[in-house]
Amino acid sequence: MCLKITSSLLNSQRNARTRGRCQTTRPLRQFNDSALRYFVDPPRRANLRYGYERWIRRPDERGRLDSLLRAYVRVLDKPPPDVGSLSAGVVSWRGIMTKILTAPYEERDGWELNVMELNGTLYLEEHLTNVQLLEKNDMKPQHHLQSYYGYAFESWCTADAPDARPGWGGDVNTNVQWCSVVKTRLGDTRIVIGGEVDCVRGGYSGANDSMVELKTSMSIRGPQDEARFEKKLLKFYIQSFLLGVPEIVVGFRTPKGELTALQTFKTMQIPRMVRGKPGTWNPQICLAWGDQFLTWLRAHVGRGDATEVPAVWRVSFVPRTGVKLVRLDETGVSDVVNGDDRYGFLPTWYWERARE
Ligand code: A3P
Ligand code: MG
Ligand code: MG
Repeated sequence: MCLKITSSLLNSQRNARTRGRCQTTRPLRQFNDSALRYFVDPPRRANLRYGYERWIRRPDERGRLDSLLRAYVRVLDKPPPDVGSLSAGVVSWRGIMTKILTAPYEERDGWELNVMELNGTLYLEEHLTNVQLLEKNDMKPQHHLQSYYGYAFESWCTADAPDARPGWGGDVNTNVQWCSVVKTRLGDTRIVIGGEVDCVRGGYSGANDSMVELKTSMSIRGPQDEARFEKKLLKFYIQSFLLGVPEIVVGFRTPKGELTALQTFKTMQIPRMVRGKPGTWNPQICLAWGDQFLTWLRAHVGRGDATEVPAVWRVSFVPRTGVKLVRLDETGVSDVVNGDDRYGFLPTWYWERARE
């Protein structure tokens, strides 16, 4: 089964009727705010290479849903007041939803997802082959360093208390994240997504209105750089929009990692900033595509028998073409099981709970 990215989609202005963004916000794994960071202005010309040798790097792993499911179950068991229904058509990480929504404009990188259905809910995780995982963990030194610049920027821009003095926020340990889980809606599909939030500005009351996303980008030296940056803004925008993060602070840097400028963007104003520019993007197209994609996926994956081991499906995205969906056979299923206690890629504890 295929769903094509058509030129009529790219030209359309259809509104995907996205409404009701963040309604619940919960950190994962440890259900507290111990990893919450507070925004502080970074020093002028901060060195983003600082501390590189001391980086405690989290190895790239398969993006299992386990910790998101733990958070979801906690909320299901003790629903906060005034959040309405917590049932979802789709449960996934924010990074997966960003890949889906930006697909109409993606020209280079394909992706694959594993999909399972349980009691009317679809669960989506990224599928990585063993070779892809090895490659991710074996970055070229230059790529490794560039990746570090993003984290060092986070450290220069954050502190562990709202009234802390600006400066180095502590050596980078990418095992630590503060995550938010939100309930949102895309067209007719209710979605529960989890994702990392870099910091908050001022205090944190439990709402998303003080959340800040931090990004680095190469300094802009001319119209070509500017066009490249405006293209990148699509991912920045969708990533923050999905979690309802209202502010994005971008640190511009030299190739050697010297911070040259800081610019703050209001997430919701970004589409207007890029409107009418050559080669620009339109978020409505992404939302319309996302709506169409999830509706198509739900229709084809269908509703299984809750007493049986659910099937695992795979969606493959080819840039500028579209997506293809196949049901994996037994051999394929073993491909997504990691040797631990799972049905397909869902942990057994979750599957058993969902069957109760
Ligand atoms: P930048 O986005 O500033 O480059 P996030 O912005 O999503 O919070 O991610 C924090 C940092 O993680 C990024 O900072 C980048 O350094 C690193 N990062 C994210 N995705 C990456 C990827 N696919 N490959 C390498 N590094 C990545
Ligand atoms: Mg982050
Ligand atoms: Mg960031």
